[in-house]
Amino acid sequence: MAETNSVSDEVFNPPVSLQAQAHIKTMQEYEELYRESIDDPESFWKRIYETFYWKSPPTGPFLDYNFDIRKGPISIKWLAGAQTNICYNILDRNVENGLGDKVAFYWEGNNPGDDGKITYSELLVQVCKFANVLKDLGVGVGDRIAIYMPMIPELTVAMLACARIGAIHSIVFAGYSSESLADRILDAECCAIVTADGVWRGNKLLNLKNIVDRAMSLCEKRNHLVNKCVVVRHLGPKCENLVDGMISNNLCEESQLGKRPVHGFKISWQDGRDIWWHDLMGTVDSVCEPVWMDAEDPLFMLYTSGSTGIPKGVLHTTGGYMMYATATFKYTFDFHPDDIYWCTADIGWITGHTYVTYGPLANGATSVMFEGTPFYPDAGRFWAIVDKYKVNTFYTAPTAIRSLMKFGDEFVTKYSRSSLRILGTVGEPINPEAWLWYHRVVGNSTCAIVDTFWQTETGGHVITPLPGATPTKPGSATFPFFGILPTILSEEGHEIKGTGEGYLVFKQPWPGIMRTVHGDHERFETTYFKKFPGYYCTGDGAHRDKDGYLWITGRIDDLVNVSGHLLSTAEVESALIEHHSVAEAASVSHPHPIKGECIYCFVTLKEGHNLTDELVMELKNKVRHKIGPFAQPDFIQNAPALPKTRSGKIMRRILRKIARGDRDLGDTSTLADESVIDVLFKYRAQDA
Ligand code: WTA
Repeated sequence: MAETNSVSDEVFNPPVSLQAQAHIKTMQEYEELYRESIDDPESFWKRIYETFYWKSPPTGPFLDYNFDIRKGPISIKWLAGAQTNICYNILDRNVENGLGDKVAFYWEGNNPGDDGKITYSELLVQVCKFANVLKDLGVGVGDRIAIYMPMIPELTVAMLACARIGAIHSIVFAGYSSESLADRILDAECCAIVTADGVWRGNKLLNLKNIVDRAMSLCEKRNHLVNKCVVVRHLGPKCENLVDGMISNNLCEESQLGKRPVHGFKISWQDGRDIWWHDLMGTVDSVCEPVWMDAEDPLFMLYTSGSTGIPKGVLHTTGGYMMYATATFKYTFDFHPDDIYWCTADIGWITGHTYVTYGPLANGATSVMFEGTPFYPDAGRFWAIVDKYKVNTFYTAPTAIRSLMKFGDEFVTKYSRSSLRILGTVGEPINPEAWLWYHRVVGNSTCAIVDTFWQTETGGHVITPLPGATPTKPGSATFPFFGILPTILSEEGHEIKGTGEGYLVFKQPWPGIMRTVHGDHERFETTYFKKFPGYYCTGDGAHRDKDGYLWITGRIDDLVNVSGHLLSTAEVESALIEHHSVAEAASVSHPHPIKGECIYCFVTLKEGHNLTDELVMELKNKVRHKIGPFAQPDFIQNAPALPKTRSGKIMRRILRKIARGDRDLGDTSTLADESVIDVLFKYRAQDA
């Protein structure tokens, strides 16, 4: 188990001005509602349910579930039989309610000055058009559509168009490699993919279309044909020269993103399969009736790393997810109609699904959507954007905060930031030092901090402060959201009451919980419900302090959380052993001052190979290439042998200690050969 966060006893009360107008103003109010949400979920969620349009009501119970694997298959059903459409609820209904001219997204491009906006009614038209495009391409209810796109409004359009016609979107973060993308397309059996020609991230130009092309040919080699590839022309200017199957923008002076020529930028093109977004959208009808879906019909799937190395397609359904995304957005960010809200997450991750697209739109919010990075053109970009749009609620990852801290306060303080009210974090434990910097420097000591703990699997926040009610402690995600019943279990599965540390589990279902792993319900049951029957197991550790506050201590399985992105050590190892020089590899998580955790690898080389600097680079690149740049290991050390038990199991606990230079190894008597330990210490990476 990862080390416990250092505990700070300082308590920060909700800012008085915020509290005065908050939806939930006191802990007493929170506790009353919380009690109701646990004791009588139907009565609590019914109020949220009633804020939406339902074509028809549930045909059975409001909630029907089995959380106990000993009693039969795990199943969770909210509102089964009720008919609705999430796209209708978050667009048409808002437009009908007078929000048509309200800005849904301010879009801020990679380059300052490159921006745009889209209102609710404009978004609705775009979504209807693209829904018709999808239908014309033969896409129907239940079909899976892969989306591999930069942070541009077309990404939201594509996802909502899927939702409108009952197709299931499977978004893959556009930082994953061709191979990772291909794995995900194959697992989901996607019939079409939506992408863009390319994107600038900071100073880097990424050719997305070529990554997608390679993924599509990898799929073809494995007998799966992606029939259609729709390409948004994001970089390319108007001129096109199709030469030898390549579209070349060579001759063009300027990109549409403004002032950046894209000389030599070429994308490959296969007529018939590849189609420009604008060609399809040009002529299509702008009216599209929503398809009424069952509350328990799939809405989307999103892949997340699994301990075995094969990513899991986490499946979310329509009705419950809609209620949960809406309620968590409203309460965690204490949303009010005039707020300007900005979540910096990429839509390719769950945070972007729930808190860039579905939650804010369901509430009729105005959001900022940002394409670029926090460091471009300099480390003040976030705060420049906050001032530009007068952002009230800002939501980012601890990694971003830690990396900005090191540039010094001036990049922050030269901007006013006076609009900020609520600052959120997500994705990994936040260390008290970063929390305090966020609070004091970014928030001028006047904002509420919400450290939101949740997972791809939970659909929305599960442990989080409420900004107008919860006194916060730096580093603690505090208390459960409505409907969440957390418990801490010992290794033996006993509930730890009062203070203590153990496995964080949840005892009853909430509307936003995942329903299955796509195509593998057994894996869903094994991963989350088997170790402790009767509970949903998060895979994280937590401890409860004397005041009842929950502190997440980190993953307790073989997943590594690098900059808020979960990776499996097995995935990294399988990339490494593909290299011809590697006989065996083991990777473990290792503390990192900015990323939170990073990957430290031990490699056993084949006869005749030495771990030169060059080979280290090659191995790092291998992982980068195979998974994506964010997965690159920080450290690779030589391991003439690995510490194994007599039955041949690698003892990662020992490897983690060796990586840290910690000689206090505990019990090593189960090792087959203890002498490997000294050898491994000898080869330890110097700068780790
Ligand atoms: C970690 C991201 C501590 C945790 C929304 C979890 C956190 C994993 C926090 C899920 C937090 C997320 N404090 N740890 N506030 N938020 N985590 O699926 O280990 O990408 O299990 O979802 O991130 O990552 P995922």
